[in-house]
Amino acid sequence: MQSSAVKGKKDKAGHPSGDKRFKVLDITMKRNQFRQDALIEVLHKAQEAFGYLEEDVLMYIARKLKLPLSRVFGVATFYHLFSLKPSGAHTCIVCLGTACYVKGGGEVLASLEKNLGIEQGETTEDGQVSLITARCIGACGIAPAVVYDGTVAGKQEPEQAVERITAWTKTKAE
Ligand code: FES
Repeated sequence: MQSSAVKGKKDKAGHPSGDKRFKVLDITMKRNQFRQDALIEVLHKAQEAFGYLEEDVLMYIARKLKLPLSRVFGVATFYHLFSLKPSGAHTCIVCLGTACYVKGGGEVLASLEKNLGIEQGETTEDGQVSLITARCIGACGIAPAVVYDGTVAGKQEPEQAVERITAWTKTKAE
């Protein structure tokens, strides 16, 4: 009876960026007691939360699960259901988790797709913008959320999102 209270304080430090998406990952890893054989499930969760698997995210997972980075990279690249960092100069991630979808995330995505002439998961021909979707980035309170080059923006309207993207492409065109 006395020993149970002491448990659960190990590995408390989250990601130094304070990015809430890492919290989502922490919860999944904790639920699996940081077991190494939960790697695929954790990678799934990471892809849902981030839209793709960035090196920083893979390093975080490797550290938390005490696995060699090479192993985590190996698994992430072996399964084609996982995608690594997209190739565009800029990355736009539209959250399509329930809260965001209900608040209009789908419309935001549709207008971005129309404006860029690509579909989710693709990169524009000029290599400027990669358009990705995620399922809950941990910002439901400000739904619908979009992440522009790593910066989370809340309560996005389709026009607003298109404006942000146009600013990227415009800089290149001028
Ligand atoms: S559903 Fe979009 S942030 Fe949670």
